[in-house]
Amino acid sequence: MGFSAIVCVSVCVLVLCSASPVKHLQRSEPDNNTPIIGILTQEVDSEAMKIFGKTYIPSSYVKYIESGGARVVPVRLNQSFAEHEKIFKSINGLILIGGSVNLVTSEFAHTAGIYFRLALKAHDEGEYFPIWGTCLGFQLLTVLVSGENLLSKTTAENVAYPLNFSSEAPSSRMFASVPPDLRKALSQEPLTANFHHYGVTKEAFMGNEKLQGFFSVLSTNIAENGLEFVSTMEGRNHPFYGVQWHPEVNRFQWDPRYNFPHSSNAVRISSLLAQFFVNEGRRSTHHFSEAAEEISALIYNYNPVYVANISAYEQTYFF
Ligand SMILES: *[C@@H]1O[C@H](CO)[C@@H](O)[C@H](O)[C@H]1NC(C)=O
Ligand SMILES: *[C@@H]1O[C@H](CO)[C@@H](O)[C@H](O)[C@H]1NC(C)=O
Ligand SMILES: *[C@@H]1O[C@H](CO)[C@@H](O)[C@H](O)[C@H]1NC(C)=O
Repeated sequence: MGFSAIVCVSVCVLVLCSASPVKHLQRSEPDNNTPIIGILTQEVDSEAMKIFGKTYIPSSYVKYIESGGARVVPVRLNQSFAEHEKIFKSINGLILIGGSVNLVTSEFAHTAGIYFRLALKAHDEGEYFPIWGTCLGFQLLTVLVSGENLLSKTTAENVAYPLNFSSEAPSSRMFASVPPDLRKALSQEPLTANFHHYGVTKEAFMGNEKLQGFFSVLSTNIAENGLEFVSTMEGRNHPFYGVQWHPEVNRFQWDPRYNFPHSSNAVRISSLLAQFFVNEGRRSTHHFSEAAEEISALIYNYNPVYVANISAYEQTYFF
């Protein structure tokens, strides 16, 4: 699933005017114009990439978030709950990437669960903390909400599809800033890249009260075996979003062996969704308590590695 086949703060204003950085970061009103989005690292599954590290984030996801106007913090696995809680209070949203680890037993899934529950609790206390899941991340959100694995075989491997919008799509938050001509293109042109073997069928989704009550289905698609799977969803009352497809590839992955949509409209939708999610992050008031801590947590402390000769990615960060 995910890319497995190919592989599948409003808060923090750093005052830069003086030579010495301010120690305590201030909240800016009304929007957080210095949002920081966490991207959860994932265990390296590919043998060829294991020589570089135990966990990774493809650079396409980092560029995607940066293109929306945010900075990125990689969230490492295997940290204590207290450490994750501290990171949660420092970042303005979380991305769950695609990939191929186990949805229940992996450290990726376990750690995602920690942030998911912290975000639910924050929401109950009136806070805003957006979470976005792509491909495996989408699937993981369905497991976290329903408490069970509802996946079944819905292969759509290396194929780009238009979205089959639901009746809830026109009033969704996710597509609110997508202009009519692009919505039309999204429903007619193959702008969404699919790289998965499993998914949640519309039937399984609608048959699960927890899932159906938590998320609105915004689009579906038909898998190679004819089953209809949910391809886009958003939380009814929570800023949680899931796409079974890969918006980051449209602008940041180029391997000619894969069906990455690169048309002008494909680039537009990828840009708008990146901006949409970062704008969701602007509504979060979390921030690092110390400037030095923020600086050392940012992705800028790491260099991506060239992996185009061993994977579907051009560059990947390893941790
Ligand atoms: C996390 O900890 C477990 C248990 O100690 C270990 O097996 C695993 O390799 C660690 N994973 C990472 C990514 O460090
Ligand atoms: C789109 O969804 C509708 C409603 O579920 C369904 O009847 C139709 O067959 C689907 N079309 C495609 C092309 O997936
Ligand atoms: C891939 O490219 C890197 C950088 O040029 C090189 O170090 C590595 O040996 C290559 N790996 C393979 C399997 O060709």
